[in-house]
Amino acid sequence: MIVAIDGPAGAGKSTVARAAAQALGFTYLDTGAMYRCVALARLRDSESDPATLEIVLAGNVMLGGEDVSDEIRSPAVTELASEVAAESQVRAAMAARQQQMLASGDWVAEGRDIGTVIAPHAELKIFLTADPAERARRRAEQTGRPVSDVLAEQQERDRRDGERDLSPLLAAADAVQLDTTTLSADDVIAEIVQLAARRSDGDSQ
Ligand code: DC
Repeated sequence: MIVAIDGPAGAGKSTVARAAAQALGFTYLDTGAMYRCVALARLRDSESDPATLEIVLAGNVMLGGEDVSDEIRSPAVTELASEVAAESQVRAAMAARQQQMLASGDWVAEGRDIGTVIAPHAELKIFLTADPAERARRRAEQTGRPVSDVLAEQQERDRRDGERDLSPLLAAADAVQLDTTTLSADDVIAEIVQLAARRSDGDSQ
């Protein structure tokens, strides 16, 4: 079974997807971490080839055998990740790996295009949203940076992620849309776990 969780930065995807995977006993796939690895590799070597990068997601994020879990969250990597994610070669290389992983087993996969492009056959698709100011407030709290800086950068990344030609951020027509602005993470996790349990019982609602 695949649970696809898409949505913009700060909507709560990572917290919710990780916890839902644990509650369901599914494997968690953070596709954003893969784009971040491509960006970090590009920052270090402008000639780096996304197709040959050794990216391993196993709790920690490993790039070429090095734990880059913290480094891929830096503002410079965050900014560049949104740019490399618009490149066709990068998307093709990451999509192939993601689809290979998702081909067997039970997954909670989070990203921007899981329900639309990577796994349009996913049994459950969730599109998480939240008010932009609330999303920026959450990110600022996590990173300790000023809300105004986070909000300005977020607006630019939302625009880039949403307007690009290739796999733009988009809710699948059959996605369940959840606005997390006023919901606690626990409420959202419980809702997703309940929906997944119903889908696996064969209920299409
Ligand atoms: O979810 P995140 O912030 O870690 O994602 C990092 C960047 O990668 C973000 O700019 C959007 C992009 N991304 C994407 O284009 N497609 C995905 N499936 C996941 C992330």
